[in-house]
Amino acid sequence: MDKFVINGGKRLQGEVTISGAKNAAVAILPATVLADGPCRIENVPNISDVSVITEILYHLGAGVRVINKTTVEIDPRHINSYSVPSELARSMRASYYFIGGLLGRERRARVTMPGGCDFGVRPIDQHIKGLESLGAKWGMEHGMLSFEAQELVGSQVYFDMVSVGATVNVMLAAVKARGLTVIENAAREPHIVDLANFLNTIGADIMGAGTDVIKIRGVSHLAGGTYSIIPDQIEAGTYMAAAAATGGDVLIRNVIPKHLESITAKLEEMGVEVEEYDDAVRVRRAGPLQRTNVKTQPHPGFPTDMQPQITVLLCLAQGTSIVAENVWDNRFKYVEELRRMGANIQVDGKIAVVEGVGKLLGAPVRAVDLRAGAAMVIAGLAAEDHTEIDDIYHIERGYENLVEKLTRLGADIRRIHIPDDLYLAKAL
Ligand code: EPU
Repeated sequence: MDKFVINGGKRLQGEVTISGAKNAAVAILPATVLADGPCRIENVPNISDVSVITEILYHLGAGVRVINKTTVEIDPRHINSYSVPSELARSMRASYYFIGGLLGRERRARVTMPGGCDFGVRPIDQHIKGLESLGAKWGMEHGMLSFEAQELVGSQVYFDMVSVGATVNVMLAAVKARGLTVIENAAREPHIVDLANFLNTIGADIMGAGTDVIKIRGVSHLAGGTYSIIPDQIEAGTYMAAAAATGGDVLIRNVIPKHLESITAKLEEMGVEVEEYDDAVRVRRAGPLQRTNVKTQPHPGFPTDMQPQITVLLCLAQGTSIVAENVWDNRFKYVEELRRMGANIQVDGKIAVVEGVGKLLGAPVRAVDLRAGAAMVIAGLAAEDHTEIDDIYHIERGYENLVEKLTRLGADIRRIHIPDDLYLAKAL
């Protein structure tokens, strides 16, 4: 049981380099099972979700070779299993990308219902609908989802809602199907484009990624190759929010400014200065934060994965702001934690009304999920006094070297290890 301890009120200043994108890495690494040769993937973030994916690959029989701190080579040639170990799959959402990947490779896949952040119900009906239309049959046995296809045949797939995961899974299965698959109402997130670019690099024929219609012409062979993952849009956005929250001045390097436009626009509305360079953004705040309204939307709208972080900024602003969560049913659980720090937020379903309180006060809080945890870190950095954040394993699923990066920017943050028996002693 480890925790972060933050002494808040320090202005962040300096430079930080953004790591590879989590949500691209957790799609591209499973996609390597489709290849017929080794794939060298660069700019891989060193986070626990990536470790779980590489462990799954290893269990399936793939060769996994760590080349250096950010590069891993996956050799899928000796994969000899189509069943993803439950204990690994349960710890994260993206384990279900092995359904599309293994169906494409082996024409069958077995995966337990995936885990991941708890935002209420997280159905997979669109994944199933898409894979069925390519010819897969599925069933549930002993809590395991089984998929099988005699043959995968290209098809027209229309999603009822925009789903990143369903778009990825159908792309993966369609890459080696016979004929043309057309995905309509596809997700347009940068990680979808990154996955398509990776697959095209090793020989796939995918057009339209980044628009809402993706066309995939199946091929029989995918070679190996080398590919570098894009920078993490949400990690970058989180540091942008942290700079703004602390009235700081931070140069955020290794970003694609185009991916940050919706975040930049919101920060500017709030009185934060954002300067764009080719592969960096500088975020500065001198004056007070202004209120604004935020609606989360699929890309290119404001990302739901930045909703908790921006809500912290709205707490520090003057006036009343409305936050509408339009992607997930239940992504305001962290509000209870922010209230401990003095926030004044009322939640009604998918709407939060945030009364700016100007400042927050340090308190013991929990990371209820990954981005909620990032929001607690930002709140702690901006707050007066001392904040302790529990359940930081959620945060470490998605942020590489958070403590080191923030410390270099002048934050007073430590990660402390508390032996489990001490926790028990406290509870008794
Ligand atoms: N949905 C369905 N049926 C489906 C699939 C999705 O109803 O079959 C609904 C969901 O319940 C949700 C909406 O569609 O209301 C969007 O879900 P989506 O499938 O797009 O989400 P996901 O693929 O499970 C990914 C990211 C999340 C991010 C969402 C939305 C990964 C591994 N996860 O999840 O990232 O919030 O897209 O952008 O890519 C995070 O990084 O913190 C994170 C949670």
